[in-house]
Amino acid sequence: MNNPSTSLGTRKDQIERANRFLTLLGDRIGGGIALDDAEKRLSVSAAQLRHLIELLGGWGYKVKESDGQLNLIEVGDFVNDFAVRHYLSTKVLGQKIHSYQSLGSTNTTAWQLAEQGAPEGTVVVADRQKAGRGRLGRSWHSPPRVGLWFSLVLRPEIIPADAPGLSLLTAMALAQTIQSHCRIEAKIKWPNDCQIAGKKVAGILTELSSELDRVNFVVVGVGLNVHQTKSDFPSALRSKATSLTIETRKKWQRAEILALFLKEFEYFYLQFKKSGIAPFTDEIERRMALLGQKVKLASGKEIITGKVAGLAPDGALLLETKTGSYRAISGEVSVL
Ligand code: BTN
Repeated sequence: MNNPSTSLGTRKDQIERANRFLTLLGDRIGGGIALDDAEKRLSVSAAQLRHLIELLGGWGYKVKESDGQLNLIEVGDFVNDFAVRHYLSTKVLGQKIHSYQSLGSTNTTAWQLAEQGAPEGTVVVADRQKAGRGRLGRSWHSPPRVGLWFSLVLRPEIIPADAPGLSLLTAMALAQTIQSHCRIEAKIKWPNDCQIAGKKVAGILTELSSELDRVNFVVVGVGLNVHQTKSDFPSALRSKATSLTIETRKKWQRAEILALFLKEFEYFYLQFKKSGIAPFTDEIERRMALLGQKVKLASGKEIITGKVAGLAPDGALLLETKTGSYRAISGEVSVL
């Protein structure tokens, strides 16, 4: 039961108050405010303020009290709903966030929630996945503390054939988020990877629940490597995978990246729901890794070789082959 002298209300009230407190602390390590002032501005008692400091501590924010002054001395890199909400400025996406320390797969949980009626924009995020899934039945290495592993429930009114466009849209929003926030060039590797300097930094797994002519819901899962060092990757991946920290030599706030991605993606997604992927294909092509390069495309049992010529307005990959132009709507591309 809540102690009435320290209770800060519902979880929503707590999160809202804690957010205001963080803003008063200047939102940065070293920022501070006088204790009396904090009590007054937040309309809380001394006991409630202590409770708020404890709550923030549990969410990764350490506040130190000394001589009547409160200072923010540590900001942890947590990916819980509080931390994400702190940075969030979207209208639809992320209004519901389910965060977990450890989960099998965020895609699996998001799928279950969607089947139970979870609204459009629901986010499932986990610090660690024990059974992270990649494309084509592969597994996705998802250790704790180092990556951003999340899934998004979407309910667009589109036909199933248009759903792959959502992977491309996600890759584009992710590449733009990385580029504008981390100040490093990020490319899209068709159909759904992000690369930095030719190495994979993120993968996307899009899963679809549909009838023949109508989409029920889509789960878009994103795995972004954030803090890994080279040795954190399994040896088979070391030459192909990278992380934001390896490429920028900086540490990042995963919650902030997630919130920025949701903002970026929401902007594009609203247009996608009206007009499909066509308005975005020029920009995606501009950001495409492997443009003009000779590649091998594995699509089902077929292997096609050719030069990457660009993207069709529906998001299909165009290859120039010895026998003419080839359109691929799915498959795995590798450099020859
Ligand atoms: C790939 O490149 O093969 C796609 C990888 C997708 C991994 C993410 S991590 C979050 C979400 N949950 C999963 O189980 N998979 C996706």
